[in-house]
Amino acid sequence: MNNQTAANGKRQSLQGQWSTRMAFILAVTGSAVGLGNIWKFPYIAGENGGGAFVLIYLLCVFAVGLPIMMSEILIGRRGRRNPVTTMGIVGEEEGGSRNWALVGIMGIIAGVLILSFYSVIAGWAMSYVFSTASGTFVDADAAQVKLIFDELSGSWKISAFWHTVFVVITVAVVAQGVQRGLERLVKILMPALLVLLLVLLAFSMNSGYFGQAVEFMFSPNFSALTPNGVLIALGHAFFTLSLGMGAVMAYGAYLPEGTSITSTSILVVLADTGIALLAGLIIFPVVFSYGLESDAGPGLIFQTLPLAFGHMPGGVFFGTLFFILLSFAAWTSSIGMIEPAVAWMTESKGIKRGVAASILGGFTWVIGFGTVFSWNLWQDKTFFKGTFFDNLDYLISNIALPLGGLMITIFAGWVMCRNSTSDELSCGTGLMYKSWRFLARYVAPAAVILVLIEASSGGIVSDYLAKIGD
Ligand code: PHE
Repeated sequence: MNNQTAANGKRQSLQGQWSTRMAFILAVTGSAVGLGNIWKFPYIAGENGGGAFVLIYLLCVFAVGLPIMMSEILIGRRGRRNPVTTMGIVGEEEGGSRNWALVGIMGIIAGVLILSFYSVIAGWAMSYVFSTASGTFVDADAAQVKLIFDELSGSWKISAFWHTVFVVITVAVVAQGVQRGLERLVKILMPALLVLLLVLLAFSMNSGYFGQAVEFMFSPNFSALTPNGVLIALGHAFFTLSLGMGAVMAYGAYLPEGTSITSTSILVVLADTGIALLAGLIIFPVVFSYGLESDAGPGLIFQTLPLAFGHMPGGVFFGTLFFILLSFAAWTSSIGMIEPAVAWMTESKGIKRGVAASILGGFTWVIGFGTVFSWNLWQDKTFFKGTFFDNLDYLISNIALPLGGLMITIFAGWVMCRNSTSDELSCGTGLMYKSWRFLARYVAPAAVILVLIEASSGGIVSDYLAKIGD
């Protein structure tokens, strides 16, 4: 036994542990809640007709996302190392192969790529804190608001500036390490985020259009939902819960023994879903009350909400709060994107944490210019799925995360033996365990395979479903 092994023979993390279960919940929630919830969820819900899409999304989150989140955490805690090493050693211990480490490597690459574009969008959010606070949007009309967005995204220099700021603050937190950096940050930020959302919710509830928003989001109209919309909902379940690339697995490695993975995961999924729904309930009343487009895409927040903020009482204040909130949410998400890679570099390559975080930040920063240029210099250089950004987004959302999630759920459901998983989940062999195992072995893999076939074939599954539907 060496100093990396506890008295009970189990491995211990080399990076310290979360001080409390709450700190872990906050960290994973911080990773999950981000641009995916506040910017992407309302926009894709709007595009796919609201209620029915929301219902399917909730189903995906609980039937596919939840079991995969539990799988990631249990694998992470069993391995107690970065996702690459963990997948390798647990794979070997469970009678599989060391080559499972490849799943971790894929996740590390995916994480760096996600941060490269995420930081550009987050950078825009940060710049909007200042444009909103300085009153730029007061009494502005739609054309002016659009112009302001076009000026920001169209200027590679301004976008690159904010992208740089965001990468630097992300690296700064990751460099400090799991206990000092991540924990301290999320402990303050997550409750602050919730308070800010509730303030904005109170505002939206008084807009006079709250009922219409509730109706839009919660009364399912299945004729508005296409088979492709179902698949979009499933894919988003991965992105919004930070699954499929090892972020949650890396955090699981720092989870104290004896903490319930099941109830922790349920709490995180509920919090993430709650915040997405809250974001919808904040944004849609504003959209409706100003007669704006609910399917404006990336512009929903950056081109549409400022218009609303510019015309509502207290708009400068609420608008500023909103973009501060969005930046914070993106910041706590970004940490999880490079934590797996940083943990791998420190544990396996002996590189110091600060150095590792800086190197990765450097990579991300450079790759990020592809996204920065997608709205200006390279705007017309389109290939395959569109701009550089479109392709990166496609690669991550439609290929990397679902593939990673599929491998992880197969690993936990089929490679790991019953005893190991029931031991980690510490819920015996009761109904709870059986439900998890059924979802992890059958439901989640089947659903993910459908997403991958859909994405790689350009819609074969939805065509087939549409045919049966007729
Ligand atoms: N879940 C984050 C969001 O919703 C995005 C993310 C993906 C974070 C993957 C970490 C890893 O914005």
